[in-house]
Amino acid sequence: MAAKVKKAVIPAAGLGTRFLPFTKSSPKEMLPVVDRPVIQYIIEEAVDAGIEDILVITSRHKKSLEDHFDRLVDLEDALTAKGKTDEVREIRRISEMAQIHFVRQGEALGLGHAIGMAKNHIGGEPFAVLLGDDIMHRSSPVLKGMIAAYEAEQSSVVALMEVPKQDIGSYGCAAATALSDNLVQVSELVEKPDPEVAPSNLAVMGRYVFTPEIFDEIAKTQPGAGGEIQITDAMASLMTYQRMLGFTFTEGRFDTGKKIDYLRAVVELALEREDLGPEFRTILRDIAIREGLVS
Ligand code: UTP
Repeated sequence: MAAKVKKAVIPAAGLGTRFLPFTKSSPKEMLPVVDRPVIQYIIEEAVDAGIEDILVITSRHKKSLEDHFDRLVDLEDALTAKGKTDEVREIRRISEMAQIHFVRQGEALGLGHAIGMAKNHIGGEPFAVLLGDDIMHRSSPVLKGMIAAYEAEQSSVVALMEVPKQDIGSYGCAAATALSDNLVQVSELVEKPDPEVAPSNLAVMGRYVFTPEIFDEIAKTQPGAGGEIQITDAMASLMTYQRMLGFTFTEGRFDTGKKIDYLRAVVELALEREDLGPEFRTILRDIAIREGLVS
């Protein structure tokens, strides 16, 4: 029987150096986007795509991630006593969204190494990976589309987006040929290539669905770009004997590990909120006029 994708891994053990000084004492995955941490958006996306079991890769300094998804009975009792039933429901919903497990990566040796920590938990099943600092808009078809592609083809799938050629050196880069509307077949993968010699401007973007054989390849992968064990390198090895598909998309992603994209996420997602959007829009308009951005 064709295997279904029911498990996901969320690597969230990185050092977050692009978001210092905040990340000196707090995980970037706990940055608030309006009133919920980044990691909650990501877990909600996974659950929405049919994932039932989630393993978060954390580290010693990231206990608040675990606390956020735990029951908080004293708070529930205090809110109940004050008749704040909506708040109680929301707090409880967060701890009941899915089976959420945690494992620590003792040392931040790279994304490939972080995913490798999930081997025992995942076992022989296919699984999704969602990066802990990459929010996808809730209308995004990406993860659901990738899981559907996996289940139809039983091949690993990676999310891909075109970026300006000069920026490709910051990403994993894929050469690919078109199969259908959003699907491509990946023929080459290289991590952080020199833009002058990069095989394309298609960048790997924070969502993956893997066959369990990826763990064999991670185990053999040596440190690569930046001295880190790169998942892109393990994927390139996997591709020598298994097909790798790409799911292309153009919008709806926020890299909240990067200050400027974090600011964009907060503004865009706050504008969409029914309770805050209208008033926030007025504030933004006033700022835009004051700054001479509109007349
Ligand atoms: P990033 O490269 O965006 O995260 O990794 P980073 O290393 O924390 O960021 P900077 O560059 O220092 O600012 C993508 C994802 O992989 C996780 C990160 O937490 C992030 O969600 N990661 C990265 C790990 O879990 N372990 C690692 O060793 C590296």
